[in-house]
Amino acid sequence: MISLPGVEEDARHDDHSPSDEEGGAIARLAGKAALITGGAGSIGLATARAFAAEGAQVMIVDLEEAALERAARTAPGESIAWHAADVTSSEAVKAAVAAAVERFGRLDVAFANAGVAGVIATVSEYPVDVFEQVMAVNVIGSFLVAKHALAVMNAGGSLIINSSVVGLTSDRGICAYATSKHAVVGLMRTAAKEVAPRGIRVNTIHPGPTDNEFQHRIEVEAVGASEEESARAFEQMIPLARHAKPEEIAQAVLFLAGDESAFMTGHTLTVDGGLSI
Ligand SMILES: NC(=O)c1ccc[n+]([C@@H]2O[C@H](COP(=O)([O-])OP(=O)(O)OC[C@H]3O[C@@H](n4cnc5c(N)ncnc54)[C@H](O)[C@@H]3O)[C@@H](O)[C@H]2O)c1
Repeated sequence: MISLPGVEEDARHDDHSPSDEEGGAIARLAGKAALITGGAGSIGLATARAFAAEGAQVMIVDLEEAALERAARTAPGESIAWHAADVTSSEAVKAAVAAAVERFGRLDVAFANAGVAGVIATVSEYPVDVFEQVMAVNVIGSFLVAKHALAVMNAGGSLIINSSVVGLTSDRGICAYATSKHAVVGLMRTAAKEVAPRGIRVNTIHPGPTDNEFQHRIEVEAVGASEEESARAFEQMIPLARHAKPEEIAQAVLFLAGDESAFMTGHTLTVDGGLSI
């Protein structure tokens, strides 16, 4: 084996092969422990369930204890732990990461997924306090998850940040949201280069409009029609002509979390029905 400068010996080895010694398939995240912020929400919970179904130990993190408990209960038989934390607080995110490591003995996967949309307004009319809140949750929150999770991850680790199709494109009225979702691409690219020598990968995911409350609110505000009419207006812009299901976004996150994507880092993975083409 050639020796690469700056690459730790153990970073080149794969401790968690997706196949067992006899060649039979085993769960894709067997032996891994994961933390998911925004885990009581639509995409976060769908991802937690997908991870748990593939053998991971999962901790979901969100603002409200009661919402977390309700979310974990929707996954009977899948053991999902929870921890309340506001991702805009460094102490709170550090404590959530420490709780996951204490419970599972390790942290292999972190999904920085907590996010808020802000309002629809032109740049000139955009409320400064809303812009700041969107940056605090979407950018500082992702930074804090990266900061504290990467510090405890080992070789084979994977950090995924939930950006958006508007982390690669944009549209009128969404300056705070689009700015925040572009910003996390810079965070991802920087972190990917920093932790590659430790055998840890960092990628962003770029979902298109997903069929959930978060997106319905944006569509109604942007189009100014009923939920149904607003959804149809959005679907006309999407080449695959429909919204994503949260479970479809979760499958893409699962791919980036597991060893099937072992040679992918610094990637911006679109899951948008072709909206960004
Ligand atoms: N829904 C879509 O169409 C879509 C498309 C592209 C990207 N996204 C991104 O997906 C991510 C998840 O969104 P979703 O669609 O599941 O919406 P959601 O509202 O169901 O989930 C977001 C979760 O983040 C949590 N959250 C918000 N602020 C927080 C904070 N300060 N600390 C901790 N948790 C906090 C919320 O409580 C909520 O549970 C977001 O980052 C969003 O920007 C969504």
